[in-house]
Amino acid sequence: MESSSSTTGAIPMTGGDGRNSYANNSSLQRIVVDRSKSIIDEAIANYLDIQICPSSNTFRIADLGCSVGPNTFIAMKNIIEAIDLKYSKSGSSPEFHVFFNDHASNDFNTLFVSLPPEKPYFAAGVPGSFHTRLFPKRTLHIVHSTNSLHWLSQVPKEVTDINSPAYNKGRVHYTNARYEVFEAYSAQYAKDIEAFLHARAEEIVCRGLMLLTVSAIPDEAPTELGMGPLIDILGFCLMDMANMGMLEEAKVDSFNVPVYKTTPREMKKLVERNECFNIERIIDILPQENNLKEVSAQTYSDHTRAIMEGVIKLHFGCSDHTIDHLFQHLYPKKLEDSLANLLKSMGKSIVLFLILRRK
Ligand SMILES: C[S@@+](CC[C@H](N)C(=O)[O-])C[C@H]1O[C@@H](n2cnc3c(N)ncnc32)[C@H](O)[C@@H]1O
Repeated sequence: MESSSSTTGAIPMTGGDGRNSYANNSSLQRIVVDRSKSIIDEAIANYLDIQICPSSNTFRIADLGCSVGPNTFIAMKNIIEAIDLKYSKSGSSPEFHVFFNDHASNDFNTLFVSLPPEKPYFAAGVPGSFHTRLFPKRTLHIVHSTNSLHWLSQVPKEVTDINSPAYNKGRVHYTNARYEVFEAYSAQYAKDIEAFLHARAEEIVCRGLMLLTVSAIPDEAPTELGMGPLIDILGFCLMDMANMGMLEEAKVDSFNVPVYKTTPREMKKLVERNECFNIERIIDILPQENNLKEVSAQTYSDHTRAIMEGVIKLHFGCSDHTIDHLFQHLYPKKLEDSLANLLKSMGKSIVLFLILRRK
């Protein structure tokens, strides 16, 4: 298998509909999609100006970082039902065109064959990074993205540069690493969100909406909260595998997971700096300790596998057997050993829902 550069960003989730697929291991992300429904209803009722798309025109919605479903289909259904309700008060509804976006290597085949048969919209796939322009100017009425914006476009270069103070030897993330590592991740996130907002500002019509859920931690919280411990424990397993001769140690040193959890204050600052969107609301949609107590170590391992398998295979060039060993034995065992702490940390992470309106 081809080996990666050490700075690769997000690699699509495991495709297909098999046991290890994202389609069958995304119920934790589904919690966020379900919690978003009432906020989507509110956003559309209060902030969508239907004059931006007369009912004789086509209403265009994009879901960025859609993966393969079923979550994207549920989110699109929720949005369209809320829009339909709003139009129904004024007579007829427009036709809907939904653009499903993800990296070109996303499993769009699985996405398309599993489209709901009764879907009330025309569907199209849009391959490419949402950190770049994807649509013609002023063509989108609503942009939605869930569980995706925490992925960086790349691992910050400094963390794999042996001569940099941010060099991240022996760890695979900024969690519990040196402060310089965190700073490098934070700077990369700021750059990526700036590029994302810049592109969307071109594509969204005047007064169009952006509905985003963003993984975060509370202001002032220690940076290792959230999914950090999940990634940290994965790093310890990779180190163990290097010690057992199953992986190269140098490869573990150059492996870093390109995800970052922002804070409400940081996110607000980034949107304000862009100047093209009004912030209508920023809400934490998981305000209390969420019901993660029920989640088992194996479930966490299976979900992490569906997300990380592609990145790990690409970086280490390892076999399915090695991946099975990691996710069926080593990782669930280590997760089990620290499940109580892990759940405490996960329970303190938050998910922001942003309602932004194009000026
Ligand atoms: C955890 S999945 C979320 C999928 C779906 N939105 C959900 O809630 O279940 C994150 C998705 O974001 C995609 N992604 C990450 N960075 C991206 C980028 N720069 N451009 C497009 N898609 C990206 C990944 O490929 C992946 O499919």
